[in-house]
Amino acid sequence: MKTAVVGLGYVGLPLSLQFARSKVTVLGLDIDPAKVDALNQGRSYIKHILPEEVSEMVKAGAFSASTDFSRIKEVDSIIICVPTPLNKNREPDISYIVETGKVIARHLQKGTLVVLESTTYPGTTDEDLREVLEVGSGLEAGKDFHLAFSPEREDPGNPNSKVATIPKVVGGYTPACLERARALYSKAIKTLVPVSSCRAAEATKLLENTFRGVNIALVNELKVVYSAMGIDVWEVINAAKTKPFGFMAFYPGPGLGGHCIPIDPFYLTWKAREYGQHTRFIELAGEINTSMPEYVIRRVADALNERHKAVKGSSILVLGLAYKPNVDDERESPSYILMELLKKHGAHVAYHDPYVPVIRPTREHSHWAGTKSVEWKRETIGNFDLVLISTNHACVDYRELAEWAKCIVDTRNAMSGIPVQPGQLWKA
Ligand SMILES: NC(=O)c1ccc[n+]([C@@H]2O[C@H](COP(=O)([O-])OP(=O)(O)OC[C@H]3O[C@@H](n4cnc5c(N)ncnc54)[C@H](O)[C@@H]3O)[C@@H](O)[C@H]2O)c1
Repeated sequence: MKTAVVGLGYVGLPLSLQFARSKVTVLGLDIDPAKVDALNQGRSYIKHILPEEVSEMVKAGAFSASTDFSRIKEVDSIIICVPTPLNKNREPDISYIVETGKVIARHLQKGTLVVLESTTYPGTTDEDLREVLEVGSGLEAGKDFHLAFSPEREDPGNPNSKVATIPKVVGGYTPACLERARALYSKAIKTLVPVSSCRAAEATKLLENTFRGVNIALVNELKVVYSAMGIDVWEVINAAKTKPFGFMAFYPGPGLGGHCIPIDPFYLTWKAREYGQHTRFIELAGEINTSMPEYVIRRVADALNERHKAVKGSSILVLGLAYKPNVDDERESPSYILMELLKKHGAHVAYHDPYVPVIRPTREHSHWAGTKSVEWKRETIGNFDLVLISTNHACVDYRELAEWAKCIVDTRNAMSGIPVQPGQLWKA
């Protein structure tokens, strides 16, 4: 059995390695030659994937990477894991899927299975992808080749999240497509959850991510409301989660980050309009979550005000640039929004993140490119007027922070249980 995985990013790479470990030979395809070269040399560019995991599979001949898409002819199945962002009008951008589909179609052989894993709106697989594959190859889905959708459930930074043991939802274009996809995934994944169609599988992924977005919005709103009442929302959540049924803990933060929760629900919003439907929960949750950075900045201003200082002219350290703890991924991180707002208000802004030593050039935040993480020592940290905890990496010593920092605004409850001076700590 030989499979191609197209798009060797946070989703495609761990999936490729899991297949390779399960004795399915994997050809990884990506348009980025730097990634392809690194992988073929046994190197990993994702922090939580060890280079040994890659080199072992490369040496065993179970995994190789290439930019040559004509090699699709060599495989009997193709799994697509390319990005699905929003465009600047916050509408779905499925161009990566469409472009990949066009390239695959040129080399598609009869009898091949094509599976889409990228998160997207219901209908992408059996409308958009099917069309480009059929038009480009002259073959018919369900008859000449098999087509399926199976969403990824990767949880970067979670050491208990293992591709093999996370149940995987699979939907086929036809019952035979589903069977074919089940046969492939059952080689590498312990539990499969078959559903009736590609659309049901696409909708399942959107439910999962919308569920998170809405619940995070709820606790974010309660954070603001309870704070006005002098109640600590984190204490309340920790008490509520002792209920053994009917409650699941979500935690507030400085705003949504990552490339899933802030984006995926809006794929559904966009598609729902085609059916004359409105996604009011998603819109409201989006509104609350995107207002969080402004709330945090107001708390920063309050904290400085208590110390007879203005935001303008103050030096502020944003602690944690990655969008979630213990990962090196800072794409779509709310820390950037906080840094922008602080700068706009006239503050001198720096950051510290052990996972992001220097900010890479990106389209969205090009002017921060090249900025280096401030060194973690008393002389540097103690010099800032205020430290704003945006991401709670476990490797940061928060006791040292309490000793060194003049004033701390904590958006993650990272300082919980750590002794501080009166007026030194503000929750936001
Ligand atoms: N990262 C996660 O935690 C996560 C979890 C679940 C689902 N997803 C979804 O999985 C999909 C992929 O996300 P990701 O985080 O792996 O993205 P990523 O940006 O880490 O990786 C995408 C890879 O695709 C490559 N690529 C781009 N265009 C290509 C093309 N035309 N042909 C071949 N390769 C191409 C890029 O070079 C990159 O290596 C998205 O739809 C995302 O929403 C991500």
